Amino acid sequence: MKTKFLYILTLVVTVQITSCRENKAVEVATEKMISKEYEGKPITHEYDEKIDSLIAEMTIEEKSGMLHGNSMFATKAVGRLGIPELTMADGPLGVREEISLDSWAAAGWDNDFATYYPAGGGLAATWNTELSYLFGTSVGEEAIARDKDVLLSPAINIIRTPLGGRTYEYFTEDPFLNKKITVPFIVGVQENDVAVCVKHYAANNQETNRDFVDVQIDERTLREIYLPAFKAAVTEANAYSFMGAYNKFRGEYLCENKYMLTDVLRDEWGFNGIVISDWAAVHDTKKSIESGLDVEMGTPKPFNEFFYAGSLIEKVKAGEIAEADVDKAVKRILQLMFTLKSIDDKGRAKGSINTEDHFQDAYKIAAESVVLLKNEKGQLPLNTDNIKSIAVIGNNAKKKNALGGFGAGVKTKREVTPLEGLQNRLPETVTINYAEGYLERYSNDEKAKLGDITLNGPVTIDELEPEMLEEAIEAAKNSDVAIVFAGSNRDYETEASDRASLKLPFGQEELIQKVLEVNPNTIVVMIAGAPFDIQEVSEKSSALIWSWFNGSEGGNALADVILGKINPSGKLPWTMPKKLEDSPAHATYSFPGDKNVTYTEGILVGYRWFDTKNVEPLYPFGYGLSYTNFEFSDLKTVKENYDADETIEVSFNIKNSGSMDGKEVAQLYVSDPESYVEKAAKELKGFKKVEVKSGNSKQVTINLPVSELAYYNEVKKEWLVESGIYNIKIGNSSRNILGEVSVQIN
Ligand code: BGC
Repeated sequence: MKTKFLYILTLVVTVQITSCRENKAVEVATEKMISKEYEGKPITHEYDEKIDSLIAEMTIEEKSGMLHGNSMFATKAVGRLGIPELTMADGPLGVREEISLDSWAAAGWDNDFATYYPAGGGLAATWNTELSYLFGTSVGEEAIARDKDVLLSPAINIIRTPLGGRTYEYFTEDPFLNKKITVPFIVGVQENDVAVCVKHYAANNQETNRDFVDVQIDERTLREIYLPAFKAAVTEANAYSFMGAYNKFRGEYLCENKYMLTDVLRDEWGFNGIVISDWAAVHDTKKSIESGLDVEMGTPKPFNEFFYAGSLIEKVKAGEIAEADVDKAVKRILQLMFTLKSIDDKGRAKGSINTEDHFQDAYKIAAESVVLLKNEKGQLPLNTDNIKSIAVIGNNAKKKNALGGFGAGVKTKREVTPLEGLQNRLPETVTINYAEGYLERYSNDEKAKLGDITLNGPVTIDELEPEMLEEAIEAAKNSDVAIVFAGSNRDYETEASDRASLKLPFGQEELIQKVLEVNPNTIVVMIAGAPFDIQEVSEKSSALIWSWFNGSEGGNALADVILGKINPSGKLPWTMPKKLEDSPAHATYSFPGDKNVTYTEGILVGYRWFDTKNVEPLYPFGYGLSYTNFEFSDLKTVKENYDADETIEVSFNIKNSGSMDGKEVAQLYVSDPESYVEKAAKELKGFKKVEVKSGNSKQVTINLPVSELAYYNEVKKEWLVESGIYNIKIGNSSRNILGEVSVQIN
């Protein structure tokens, strides 16, 4: 058995490190933990003196006005001192339409159209950090064009259960991919003088009981799985604001959780932006302000009844809350306003909205997000030379998803549906025979209203209408090719509810089955934001594509993939289980809990569980096919031995040996088979998306800082790297490893 030593990767020095030299090495290691490909500008402190004098002039009523919603999405201005409102808008799919000042109803403006961008799952499926940056800059331009100071995005909670109602909005089950997508997005948004609001901080991984559920996560799991992207949002991207989540964490609501809001976020990570509550997530004035929550936002009730309104003023006057705590929050908001130039508007970005350029940004993201799951008979890309007719079947061929469900959407002038995409892209010689096939229907049951499609379901109506089924069968029979557009939509996958099961709703399974029976030349396209039970569909169909709630140009991008103008390069950002019980939160019976939920699976979230426990997924994390073939070879590292502060350069060759140009996502996983502590069978620690032309090869290098190999030691409260042998695996999915090399960490 090898000997293991622990190397400390924080500035705290333990007994094992005594000399100055070692001390220095530790500092370098800490620096290297942050690989700053994208780096955001920090909050400015240039105006601190001016800010102090402004605060000195303010009454407690004026201060309180700045700290809480004075309309649904803005705080109160202090006109006499030239301090503006702080204006906000959702969110993850693009800049939300204007909402009434004092209710959730749409304001009914006619100039609040925006670009609808692919939902989080789609962006993460691109595995392309440049596209994440593009998304950020593009939506940032839209936000500033709509005069917003804060965009309530990105939503970056880890996908713990495939049932999660907001899975479509979130990125991934993996902390490394999560942070790599999060950072460039934030940098892009904030370059436009708009703050992001990174949400929902933290441990908000289910909708069931989200208003009160008390989440228990051991410290190591918290640090290794649930926090890395939030941390990188601060230490790399310099995120200007965070949103406190609804739920409790270790007994305290997250909007009054001193450990999370002050000890970790501010004291450890150095956050000096503002924390805004989720809407109506505050429960106690004193606890919240003293824990570091700056702004209380909420859902309709008289604004003077907010905790940070009358109650705050009273408590300050009674001496129960120190005015200094209020001043701290006011100061942070003013610092943010100066950083965003919203207070003096000197040279603030102007932005643009709803432009062709932005629609094309959305197209680029959508085009790289589509995942080819199966292409057994080479039906794809579809060659239209010998095709006269295509049956386009399924409600999802026409379904729009920019709006829908309970959560924030986008009012857009353009949402190209899959059917329209095909109409736009197919040659005129091809006739489309459309049949709706299934209806999106919900039970009339009292409990069954939207936003209630939850574990308490069942609420969908899953029987097909016989005439509609017949029409679909006829269309399929009489066409050369059939394409079924199935999956879900944003009414079914929605904020505030988790799904009751992974079953495909509305009778789609039967529809797909019947179409496959009459036309073997059938392609199945799933449009959804979260895993579904598609085991049978997958077994029976030979061509299977996965697409997302994919933005304004989603239909065009999808048609381009089907027809081969785009070679698919999307990879699943989460594991598609064969069945729900295989997923860690369900295998451990630890979802959804009741008043409490304990994350029993610990660090084994997502593929970490499947790989470590040898459970076969239906489609693994990182999986996605291409129309071409990629061969990996010549995997090597520059040397074999590394110290804790070094970076391992891993290089290899990718050859495109097929006949089509394409992009491949090279994925780097690490295993530490002889670890003294529990580790997952492998963990993603690097990736690179590379374009290789047909017949060509490319030399690829992925840098792996040794510090990325650290685990969190709960006892020492430090990140530690064990010395010894580590296996570095390169592949194009978590289950298709194409090369392996070992290194020694000294
Ligand atoms: C959601 C947030 C959102 C806020 C404002 C809440 O219900 O959880 O994500 O930003 O509403 O719309």
